[in-house]
Amino acid sequence: MKKSPFLFCILSLLAGVPAAFANHNEEGGHDHSPLEEEMEHIGDAWKLVRRAIRDPEQFSAAAEQVAIMLEHAKKSLDLEPSLLAQQEGDAAKKEFLEGYRKGMKQTITLLEELHAALEEGDAEAAQKTVGKINDARKEGHKAYKPEDED
Ligand code: HEM
Repeated sequence: MKKSPFLFCILSLLAGVPAAFANHNEEGGHDHSPLEEEMEHIGDAWKLVRRAIRDPEQFSAAAEQVAIMLEHAKKSLDLEPSLLAQQEGDAAKKEFLEGYRKGMKQTITLLEELHAALEEGDAEAAQKTVGKINDARKEGHKAYKPEDED
């Protein structure tokens, strides 16, 4: 069958669509920073973990989600919060970044503990650690995340 020039035009246009969206991840009206991207993965997995933690039969599924959180939390360690740019002077920037990394490292340790508790089927330890991770999330967000976001 002979291709019509019209069809060719449409196909060329469609082929260009993904390119137009490359390097662009817009949601809610602004581009997402690399750290926001990692945090979104952490947040999605966290929702599933909190649901699964109520049922010991779902502990291995929860452990898989915690492993995903760990992967993204480790990537987050090397990224910079967008508020870093607003810190004035080298000393303040250094302190801000070190504090952020310390908070992330503590969260990684807690996630490792949660992973172990889930694999051992220790519901009490898992619940306790979930509470500690939530506190670390709240503290981390209060200190390092822009206020207008959740
Ligand atoms: C389980 C723990 C955590 C969860 C579920 C979580 C989840 C999230 C979510 C959903 C966002 C919003 C992403 C978006 O705007 O699209 C976010 C942003 C952010 N989080 Fe977390 N987070 C956790 C722990 C932490 C910790 C411990 C810190 C710091 C020590 C932290 C620092 C930040 C920062 C700085 C942002 C804003 C990103 C930017 O500045 O570019 N988070 N987090």
